[in-house]
Amino acid sequence: MNQTEERKRDHIQIAVRENIAMHHNYWDDVKLMHNALPEINEQDIDLSTTLLGKHLGAPLVLSGMTGGYPEGKKINEHLAAAAAEHQVALGVGSQRAALENEKLADTYSIITEYDIPLKIANIGASQMVLWEKKEILANAEKIVSMIDADVLAVCLNFLQEAIQPEGEARAKGCLEMIDMLSREFGRPVIVKESGAGICGKAASLLRKTKIAAIDVGGAGGTSFAAVEYYRAKAKGDAIHSREGITFWDWGVPTPTCILEVGRATDWELPIIATGGVRTGLDAAKSLILGASAAGVAHTMLKPALKDAKATILECETILRELRTVMFLVGADSVEKLSTTEVTYGLDE
Ligand SMILES: Cc1cc2nc3c(=O)[nH]c(=O)nc-3n(C[C@H](O)[C@H](O)[C@H](O)COP(=O)(O)O)c2cc1C
Repeated sequence: MNQTEERKRDHIQIAVRENIAMHHNYWDDVKLMHNALPEINEQDIDLSTTLLGKHLGAPLVLSGMTGGYPEGKKINEHLAAAAAEHQVALGVGSQRAALENEKLADTYSIITEYDIPLKIANIGASQMVLWEKKEILANAEKIVSMIDADVLAVCLNFLQEAIQPEGEARAKGCLEMIDMLSREFGRPVIVKESGAGICGKAASLLRKTKIAAIDVGGAGGTSFAAVEYYRAKAKGDAIHSREGITFWDWGVPTPTCILEVGRATDWELPIIATGGVRTGLDAAKSLILGASAAGVAHTMLKPALKDAKATILECETILRELRTVMFLVGADSVEKLSTTEVTYGLDE
C-alpha cells in the first residue's frame, strides 16, 4: 500500500471508530414553521427534481468519500446500490490514488455497474495546481471516463492540507486553474469544499468562472481537523495533534454558506448543501434555505461499510424524513419548499 492508499484507509477507519463531528451542528439552529393546515396529501408529494440537467428521484447527493484502497471499493459499491435504488446523485472520493496506480481504478469504476442518474468524479485542487494545463485536462478526462461521470468535482480541502503532516498547502493558482477547467474541459465542473465551507467572497470569485454548481461542504458535520488529530495522535506527533484540536471547529456553517453563496451568485448557480446533514429534516432545511440538493457523507459511512441493504435503508430513511417535513410544512414539490417559513440565526 502506498502513502495515498494508507491515508484513504486511515480516514475511513478513523471516521467510523472515533467521534469526528464538530462540537455544534448548525442545522439545529435552523427552525421550520409547522403548518397545522398543510392542505396536501402525503401520497401526492413529489420528491423528484433536476440537478445539473439530470432527473433525480430526490434532491440528494451521496457525497464523495472514498476509493483508492480495497475496502473503498465495497463502500462505493454499496453507495452505488443506494443511489441506483433511489435515483439520487453519487460522488466518489478523490481519484488521485487511481492516477498514481491504475490497478486501483476499479475501486471507483465499480459504480458504473449501477444505473445512477448523476455521477460525480473527484480530484483535489491542491493536486491539480501542480500540473501543466495539458496534464490537468488529460487527467480530468481520465478520472471522468473512469466512472463515466456526468460532472467533475474539484475539491477544496485546504484545512486538511494545512494540518496533515504530508499535506500540500498550495492554493496559489487554484482559481485560475478552476477557471481554465470550467471553460476548456468538455464537461460540467463543480467546486466542492469538504467540511470548512465556501463563503460569499470565495463564491463571488467562483462566479466569474464557468463552473456549473457549488457544493458548499460547510462546517457542522465531519471535521477533517478531527480526523487529522486522531492520525497525528496515533503517530505520537504532538504538533499536528495539537493543531487538530485547535482547528476542530474551523469553518463556515453550512446554513450560512447557502445564504452567502446564494447572495454572492444571485442564486444563479445550483448549490449542493453538504456538511452536517444527518437526517431528512436537515436536508429539508437546506432546500428551504435555497440549496438545490442536500449532500450526505458521514451519515452514509457506517451503513456503506456494512452492506448494500443497510445503505439503501439509510437512504430510504432520509428520504422518508424529507417527505414528512414536506407534508408538515405543506409543500408537495421540492420547488414549493422555498416558500416555507424559516428562522435561522435569530434570537428567539
Ligand atoms: C472519510 C471521509 C473521506 C472523505 N474524502 C473526500 C474526498 O476524497 N474528496 C472530497 O471531495 N471530499 C471528501 N470527503 C468530504 C465529504 O464529501 C463532505 O464534504 C464532508 O464530509 C462533509 O459532509 P458530512 O458532514 O456529511 O460528512 C470525505 C469525507 C469523509 C467523512
